[in-house]
Amino acid sequence: MPTAIGAISVEDLTASPASATIDRLVDPHPDFFRKNYLEQGRPAIIALSSDQRPAQFSWTFDRITELVGDLEVPVYDWGEKGPTVDDDFRIVSMPMGEALRFANAIRSTTEQRFAICQLPLESCPALAAEYKCPPFLEQAIRPSDQPPAPFREKHRDALFVSFFRGIHWHNGRDALAQIGEGGKRFVLFSPDDTPHLYPKRFLSSPIAWFDETEAVFCSEIPFEKGLDVDLVRFPRFSKARPLIADVRAGEALFIPSHWWHFTQAATPSIVTVRFWDAPLRRWRFPLAWRSVLMKPYRKYLFRRLRKLGMFSRTVRS
Ligand SMILES: [Fe+2]
Repeated sequence: MPTAIGAISVEDLTASPASATIDRLVDPHPDFFRKNYLEQGRPAIIALSSDQRPAQFSWTFDRITELVGDLEVPVYDWGEKGPTVDDDFRIVSMPMGEALRFANAIRSTTEQRFAICQLPLESCPALAAEYKCPPFLEQAIRPSDQPPAPFREKHRDALFVSFFRGIHWHNGRDALAQIGEGGKRFVLFSPDDTPHLYPKRFLSSPIAWFDETEAVFCSEIPFEKGLDVDLVRFPRFSKARPLIADVRAGEALFIPSHWWHFTQAATPSIVTVRFWDAPLRRWRFPLAWRSVLMKPYRKYLFRRLRKLGMFSRTVRS
C-alpha cells in the first residue's frame, strides 16, 4: 500500500500509461459510460479519437495566448511560499498571457505562486466559442439526474492552469477534467476513505466557501511535498487506498461526486473541467451531509454575500 506519492515526471507518465485500478475507455458509447461509470460513481480515464475530441483537448499555452492573451483575468496568488494546506491565497488581476507565462515556467511544487483556478469559460468569450461538451458525456447525462431545486446548480466549464492542488472534493458535483497540453497526475480516494483523510472541520475555514466558484472542501493533510504524508501526525492515512490516474493531453478523467483528489502536473498543463450536479441517489453519505447544508447555502446566499464584498479575497486596484 503506497503511502508516499511524491514528485512525478514526464517519464512517470510514459512509464505508466494506464493505472492498474482506473479503467481507460476509448471512445465510450454514452449508454456504456452511463451504466458502468456515471451510475456507479466509478472514475475512468477517457481517451477520445482525434475526430471525437472537441477543441479544448487541443488547447495549448500558445493557442490560449493567441485567443485571449490580452484578456485581464482573476489569478490565484499564494505569495512567495506557494500553496499550503492553509489555502492562504488572494485573487489578483493580470493579462491571461502573463499568467500563462508564469504557469508554464513552473517545474516543482515550491515554484507555484500564481495559478489560474476555476476561471469560468464564459468570462473568456473566445474560449467559450470553441468549447464543446464531449458528445459521449452530453448524451450520457439525463434531465432526470437533476437534484431537487434547493440542491441544483447550473453546469459550469472552467479553465485550470495550476501545477498542483491539495486533497479536496467538490460539493455534490461530478467533474470531467479534460487535458489540452501537458500531463497531470490525479490521486483519487473513494468517499469511503474519508475517515483516513482528515477532512477539515466544518467551521475551520469558512472563507474558502465564499471565494471559489465551485465549493471545495479540503483535507487537513499538508500537500506541499506531494503526498509524502507524516504518518505520525496522520496515522489513519496509511489505511487510505489511493487510485492513481495519469492523464495526458487529449484525454479526460471522470471524477465522480464526493471523491477526494490530489492533483499534480508532470509538466505545465492546460485543463478544462466541466462540473455538473450529481443526482441525490449518488451522493455519498455521510460525507454528503456537508453538501446537504452547503448546496442550498451557496445557491441562495453565496452570490449575495460576494456582491456585498464580504469575505472576498479579490484584490481590487
Ligand atoms: Fe478538484
